[in-house]
Amino acid sequence: MSAKAYAAPVVDSTAVFKEGIFNGKVLFCTGGGSGICKEMTRAIMRHGAHAAILGRKLDRLTASAEELSKDTGRTCIAIQADVRQPKALQDAAAKTVEKFGRIDFVICGAAGNFLAPISGLSENGFRTVIEIDTIGTYNTIKATLNHVRASRGAYIHVSATLHWKGTPYQVHVSAAKAAVDATSAVLAVEEGPHGVRSNVIAPGPIAGTEGMSRLGTRGSVGERVFASTPAGRLGDTRDVANAAVFLCSDAAAFVTGQVLAVDGGDEHLRTTQ
Ligand code: HXC
Repeated sequence: MSAKAYAAPVVDSTAVFKEGIFNGKVLFCTGGGSGICKEMTRAIMRHGAHAAILGRKLDRLTASAEELSKDTGRTCIAIQADVRQPKALQDAAAKTVEKFGRIDFVICGAAGNFLAPISGLSENGFRTVIEIDTIGTYNTIKATLNHVRASRGAYIHVSATLHWKGTPYQVHVSAAKAAVDATSAVLAVEEGPHGVRSNVIAPGPIAGTEGMSRLGTRGSVGERVFASTPAGRLGDTRDVANAAVFLCSDAAAFVTGQVLAVDGGDEHLRTTQ
């Protein structure tokens, strides 16, 4: 391909969607203290929703909640919880409903990752990522489903594209995210009759994120994620946030059980999957 003549623009969701579309709505977001999930929370709040963000590090969560509240004029609360602990999630859901009265949108975003080859990955290392990503997603769904049914709301699961093919050093995350995709599909089918939608966002290489800092520097994984995309640039957290606004909105009322890649058309994956 010839030299880059074009790079896709990066826009805030408010440049495209109306500001008040989520007035009166409430978001429950695991992993919302940083990175992609924090930016998704910011965007959904900018359109009117209040939010609860969950994570393990209370200091970071509290600072993020204050920043998000100040930035959006809505209320964000910080709840310390490890998604591997069902009771902590049940308590968090109850606290959110006590504070805001409802839960409309759930983002299952908490994740763990590191680079390790199968030959060097311990059983506990594999299990730990499955417990955070996959079982954490299940625990989050179980803790919130009755509330989301009541509001006829929507789930967004944050997955990845790396498990669409064999990505070295990522067996734990690949297995975990494949299970997340499958879980979302079942949730969409079972809960559709209750008015609940469930979709997956699969971010590609997103600049400045924890995932990129962990994955972007080693061998073929690094080469792949830094490869140029058809969109002409690396992803921005706002690219993922915009997709989340769409999937939560009524414009996506007929969209469920889908996996939406937000990866700039990542060329390598597209040509080899
Ligand atoms: C090999 C490792 C390892 C490494 C941990 N382990 N890091 N093995 N290489 N670099 C092993 C440990 O040795 C241990 O096994 C087991 O994993 C559990 O480790 P702990 O440190 O006790 O677990 P914990 O404190 O719960 O930490 C969880 C974690 C950690 C996943 C290991 O990295 C974490 O908390 N990450 C959270 C933030 C994060 O990763 N965000 C990135 C998400 S990005 P043994 O056998 O020794 O007991 C993402 C997107 C992917 O998911 C797609 C991007 C394009």
